[in-house]
Amino acid sequence: MHPRFAKTLDSLPADLSAAVAPMLGDDFSASFSPEQIQQLMDATRLGERELRLALLPLAAACSVAPISHFFVGAIACGLSGRWYLGANMEFAGQGLFNSVHAEQSAISNAWLGGETGISEITVNYTPCGHCRQFMNELSTAKVLKVSLPDDISTLQAFLPHSFGPADLDITDALMSPQHHDLPFTSEDPLVCAALAAARQSYAPYSQGYAAVALAFADGRTFCGRYAENAAFNPSLPPMQMACAHAVLNGADLGQLRRAVLVESAKGQISQQDAARSVLKALGGVTLEYLAI
Ligand code: THU
Ligand code: ZN
Repeated sequence: MHPRFAKTLDSLPADLSAAVAPMLGDDFSASFSPEQIQQLMDATRLGERELRLALLPLAAACSVAPISHFFVGAIACGLSGRWYLGANMEFAGQGLFNSVHAEQSAISNAWLGGETGISEITVNYTPCGHCRQFMNELSTAKVLKVSLPDDISTLQAFLPHSFGPADLDITDALMSPQHHDLPFTSEDPLVCAALAAARQSYAPYSQGYAAVALAFADGRTFCGRYAENAAFNPSLPPMQMACAHAVLNGADLGQLRRAVLVESAKGQISQQDAARSVLKALGGVTLEYLAI
């Protein structure tokens, strides 16, 4: 089990702690299957919403917040029934705009896990305006519920008079399956992983389809897809998503060995400088770059 969970487990109710501990082994992917959820409900007699609230401390334990020391945890419910954890992430030494919010992390985790939408997101603090806007891009934005320790409402109630994709005549949505044509072949598995992720990225406003693949000293690799937003600034760059996903899976960013960015050469924007800025904060792995 990753050491970050040890203290948190002690703080959970004893029945939950005992039932969830065996699920947090080294292969824990920061998500719970429907079968595991049922086991936890049987062991604790908690309902689904209560169980998610009780599990939030485990999500918040994945937070990396060297600047704010404010630990946010989120759990997104995938349409498949699986639950995905998320936590905020900050990059000391670089602009605050590089940060990943817990809601974005949980949604990324669900999207990378193959989900095509989420029905509900549970968070230990109220979502900021940037997250509300980020979530308004989702395939399920019109029906998504936001669950807080003391409230549950629809996203639309949290975001009255909302601005969204339809204002820019976009009918596509974040988490709806994407298949972009980026013809290229490579013998390098990390390049292939980045390429596959870029083909699934979401960039209807700039066509700057992009993804990052990271390789770690222990041989594990993690990808991040670009997730664009109608309001532009809340877009989540692929390097941020890759780092957040790696950390959720227990990777040590100090052990990063390679970083590959693949993007469309035909897009109106580039992720290169933003990706390099994050790598600088992580100790200086050189970005490998491919424009297709
Ligand atoms: N934060 C979230 O993760 N979600 C929110 O919606 C509120 C703010 C994070 C971002 C930053 O890492 C820290 O909390 C302080 O704002
Ligand atoms: Zn936020």
